[in-house]
Amino acid sequence: MKVVIASDHGGIKLREEIKSLLTELGIEFEDMGCDCETSVDYPDYALPVAQKVADGEFDKGILICGTGIGMSIAANKVRGIRCALVHDVFSAKVTREHNDSNILAMGERVIGPGLAREIVRTWLSAEYEGGRHDKRIGKIKEYEEKNV
Ligand code: RB5
Repeated sequence: MKVVIASDHGGIKLREEIKSLLTELGIEFEDMGCDCETSVDYPDYALPVAQKVADGEFDKGILICGTGIGMSIAANKVRGIRCALVHDVFSAKVTREHNDSNILAMGERVIGPGLAREIVRTWLSAEYEGGRHDKRIGKIKEYEEKNV
């Protein structure tokens, strides 16, 4: 599995924590910034990450900002992206099983590093269930195709 990760200035510390976790888990990843503590704009990080996942360059993406909200809003503008903003372990599991989410967004100002690690661990290991969920995701894809 190949993962791409990025954050804005509001998510740098949590991004480093999650990078350590990915290394511990032996998961290949690419870090797309940001590189500085000064203020940056989250769409400049969310959109390239989302495009790389949508293009199949990476299997999954992880985006972190202060709240996770800006990153998730921006990532979900990219066709084929199902970005889930998650701050609990249950949702991390179910958004993989039901929504086949391909990007996880979290907020560094919302949760601590321990919970974030559990969320990432759970999200990366949970599998999409297919079945009745295919029809629902299919409706989103159909809408995307009609509204290029
Ligand atoms: C940056 O101050 C903050 O707005 C950003 O990290 C994020 O929370 C936006 O949704």
